[in-house]
Amino acid sequence: MPHFFDHRHPTADDLRATARRRIPGFVFDFLDGGCNDDVNLRRNVEDFRSVELLPRYLRPRGTVSLETELFGRTWAAPFGVCPVGLQGLIWPGACEALAAAATARGLPFILSTTTTADPETIGRITGGSHWFQFYVPYDPGLRENLIARVENSGCSVLVLLADVPVFGYRPRDIRNRFAVPPHIGVRTVMQMLARPAWGAAMLRRGKPRFATLKPYLPPNIDLRQLADFMNRTFTGRLTGDDLARIRDRWKGRLVLKGVATPEDAEEAAARGLDGIIVSNHGGRQLDAGQSTIRALPAIVAAVGKRMEVMIDSGVRSGPDIARALASGAKFTFLGRAFMYGAAALGDRGGEHVAEMIHRQLTQVMEQLGCERVADLPGHLARG
Ligand SMILES: Cc1cc2nc3c(=O)[nH]c(=O)nc-3n(C[C@H](O)[C@H](O)[C@H](O)COP(=O)(O)O)c2cc1C
Repeated sequence: MPHFFDHRHPTADDLRATARRRIPGFVFDFLDGGCNDDVNLRRNVEDFRSVELLPRYLRPRGTVSLETELFGRTWAAPFGVCPVGLQGLIWPGACEALAAAATARGLPFILSTTTTADPETIGRITGGSHWFQFYVPYDPGLRENLIARVENSGCSVLVLLADVPVFGYRPRDIRNRFAVPPHIGVRTVMQMLARPAWGAAMLRRGKPRFATLKPYLPPNIDLRQLADFMNRTFTGRLTGDDLARIRDRWKGRLVLKGVATPEDAEEAAARGLDGIIVSNHGGRQLDAGQSTIRALPAIVAAVGKRMEVMIDSGVRSGPDIARALASGAKFTFLGRAFMYGAAALGDRGGEHVAEMIHRQLTQVMEQLGCERVADLPGHLARG
């Protein structure tokens, strides 16, 4: 059976435009926004687009394969779905639908600690191919409880987060008084009434909840209280010692996400981690930070022979993935592109984005005369 593909949306920008019309303004702002002046958010995207690749037209060629070996598995292509909090608020059921779509396409899905489905549910959907982004609790009892749940869900890759020592300063969310459940003011109600498809889907699925955290949370908290709870309960400021402690406990593969410098990458390698994701949280944390594609080469030079170096933040297309791999990354993840898809097309959004990116990446590799993803570095235009 051919894969689902919606011809009205051949790009992530098309999906973003439809998402903006389908979901309430305060929800779109939460998904779309960066931090402070959105400089880092824009640079992530622009700097990707400035990387140039060289085609080799006259070389003999065979069939393009996107298959990629990573952590003992063969994935169908070198991309997966980023962990995103509150997916069910952005589009009801989005977390479960994206996990199913990724699994059907042989791609990894990373589950966020702060999203709206729990590891038990996602483990059943993915058959154990999911990864889990783990906020590390201070309390050893809670830490053990959560790790054991993740382990029992069949997850084999645990992802720790380096880049949220504090919550980002996000003007759009501040202006909207963004809260969960939403702050019910006249503006919010008007925004919800103006988006009937989202409202109807929300009524069908019920109010989104922090599914994984529910057993530990006070009932009905708003985002401010959630931030306080997260600060009190979880270590935002990870140190090398924290990495070592989790390394001792977790038998599967261990990855650090949010690495922006060769120094942090070195520390992760020294503590025995298996991989890193070069990421700046999609420009949502440090507006003065570097774009990830700019930070990547020095990090690959420092640790690329010792661990798997992956990247996210600013990836919107197949050509972006080719650029990332040509610049030394092994694998890529997309956050907003998948969520724009879910908001624009509901349950089929994930399938569409996977197919769109797959087609785009295959096309660019055929154009380059590059049959295997491992050969992309040979196509980078240098200098
Ligand atoms: C709405 C939203 C919520 C996010 N929530 C989380 C989260 O709970 N945990 C996490 O590790 N990263 C989170 N991220 C960051 C993503 O995992 C990823 O690093 C980022 O979206 C990549 O950039 P891109 O959106 O440009 O692809 C979130 C990103 C967005 C847009």
